[in-house]
Amino acid sequence: MSTAEAQQIVDPFVPEGDSRWYRAMRHFWHPVAYSKDVAEAQMVSGRLLGERILVVRHEGTVRAFMDVCRHKGAAPSLGWVENGCINCPYHGWAYDMDGTLVSIPSRPELNGVLQLGLVRYLCRERSGLVWVSLSDEPWGDPPGIDEWDDPIMRWQTPPSYDWATSSPRRLENFVDFSHFPFVHENVLGTRDKARIESHDVWREGGSLRFDKVFVEPNVDRMKELLGIDDDTMAVRNWYRLTVPGSIALVRTFPNGRRYALYMVTAPTGLETCRNFWHIGADFVDAPSEMDFLLEFEYMVLDQDQPIVESQWPEHLPDRLNAETYVKVADDVTLAYRKWLFELAEELEPG
Ligand code: FES
Ligand SMILES: [Fe+2]
Repeated sequence: MSTAEAQQIVDPFVPEGDSRWYRAMRHFWHPVAYSKDVAEAQMVSGRLLGERILVVRHEGTVRAFMDVCRHKGAAPSLGWVENGCINCPYHGWAYDMDGTLVSIPSRPELNGVLQLGLVRYLCRERSGLVWVSLSDEPWGDPPGIDEWDDPIMRWQTPPSYDWATSSPRRLENFVDFSHFPFVHENVLGTRDKARIESHDVWREGGSLRFDKVFVEPNVDRMKELLGIDDDTMAVRNWYRLTVPGSIALVRTFPNGRRYALYMVTAPTGLETCRNFWHIGADFVDAPSEMDFLLEFEYMVLDQDQPIVESQWPEHLPDRLNAETYVKVADDVTLAYRKWLFELAEELEPG
């Protein structure tokens, strides 16, 4: 092999520079908190792409700032809100709701003289989440789930959870069909039915869409709740994946009942993510029934987490050929990565 040839062989796992998809994440909306957790005149802190974020609700509307005081860098979110101002806990500097510095208690004659302010970000609410964009011109709108406003659905919002992996890896796990019989054996699949049959994946209105019918075990309490006696049942799964990190899944059972899962993974760092979720169903009434569904989801998450956190590298490899895609079984993963990389190239050229 010539030296020139040898130089062309690259280790596909080593990222080329910093990850372009990660840099491109700045151009999207990401959730940093649940709406219900940000009460009037209260602050909540979050993290996005390595930056500290403060969210505050003022006169009903949420606002987001960099959670870094312009004085000595303490987190204003640890302070208090008073008279429509955010007060830093360290030396009491006060910022108004535009982020402008209005008060320096240790030298009041400097009030209005020091022209400083908290860095402000775009902030919106949708489907029970507070969304922030680090860019002034984000791509698209914060995605939501239509069923959130459906009066028949009963929703529950569990706490967000952090995983030690990149948000694209977490998202891919959600839509990875061929792991069901292995990671979730006898829960979401069985090994004798590991083969994945072909299904369409298409782009629709800014999202990736696909449907899948699974023959699943129908066990335990689920049988009772659904009122379906069969030991296995065909469940229609309707998916909408919105780049870069949201997935709406609506499951329709043979009797027409629906179960919905909405998950949005936010990149807190290159190799860390915070995941927000709602679960909804139109066949439960009592809180204990909802608890049962939640326990089920926690069992699934507990099975997934160690496997997904074991994936190396934790960040998504920048090149499509760094990993292997199996025909049909990995169609969604491939379509997702292609789109993510396509957008990254468009949003972060060069
Ligand atoms: S660090 Fe915030 S007031 Fe000093
Ligand atoms: Fe899983």
